[in-house]
Amino acid sequence: MTISGRAKLAGVMGWPVGHSRSPRLHGYWLDLHGIDGAYVPLAVRPGDLGPALRALPKLGFRGCNLTVPHKEDALSIVDRVDDTARRIGAVNTVVVEADGTLTGHNTDAPGFIANLRQGAPDLALDGATAMVVGAGGAARGVVAGLVEAGVVQIRLANRSPDKAHALCRAFDPYVVAMPWDERGDHLDDIDLLVNATSLGMTGQPALDLPLDGLSRRAVVTDIVYAPLETDLLARARARGNPVVDGLGMLLHQAVPGFEAWFGLRPEVTEALRRHVLA
Ligand code: ATR
Repeated sequence: MTISGRAKLAGVMGWPVGHSRSPRLHGYWLDLHGIDGAYVPLAVRPGDLGPALRALPKLGFRGCNLTVPHKEDALSIVDRVDDTARRIGAVNTVVVEADGTLTGHNTDAPGFIANLRQGAPDLALDGATAMVVGAGGAARGVVAGLVEAGVVQIRLANRSPDKAHALCRAFDPYVVAMPWDERGDHLDDIDLLVNATSLGMTGQPALDLPLDGLSRRAVVTDIVYAPLETDLLARARARGNPVVDGLGMLLHQAVPGFEAWFGLRPEVTEALRRHVLA
């Protein structure tokens, strides 16, 4: 596509950044809506995040996404951080305000919830009980989203107990830590099971979690989207549980940034899924 001298600019900062699907994702929406704008990969080394973010307003950028390893470091660089990003402890979306200051957001939590609502419309999150496996950066976004959506109890199992306890403290009183060895023991009355670890991703072992005791009506979802159907989702589907794959979280987390930078709220559609997967 061709852009003019007035094109609206945004991008994604990461190191490495070559694997990021965000340029393809935002590029699809820019083309679809005929917007005079561009979204570009920005390879920013770990020590260079401060000057790179400060350069955004000087270069006329509307903002950017942040990916590994920049999400946590950005907290202390931007001028203000919204409550969700503060609670999660990471920024994934930066908006350049009209006065040139930078606001940090985290859209993983609303992205996770929007994907769940689209993929499992019958699941009532308000008042629900969930089990989350994992306590890393992605799990913090998942837990923040669940708490905001009204989930009353989140059972959390993580291989390293210290990280599970840190998450309990951050989201007190909603999160209850479970011993890692008991991760399969308390699934009979839950409404939702989430894998928020990297287990099941291509090249990683599968998540070792027996589903024998899992309630048949529980929705099972995975933050891993490569492969689209993880071993966990395949096993859950085979026994009749509703499943939601993780690709939608990636797509939905991009919506608020696109809207802030380019002025239009885009939709997550089947055609977009196919485009990003291709
Ligand atoms: P992300 O930002 O994607 O969440 P992360 O912060 O490194 O990445 O977190 C990875 C998660 O996967 C953690 O919960 C991690 O467990 P630990 O806190 O014990 O490290 C989990 N994980 C990764 N490999 C694992 C494995 N082989 N067994 C169990 N859990 C694993």
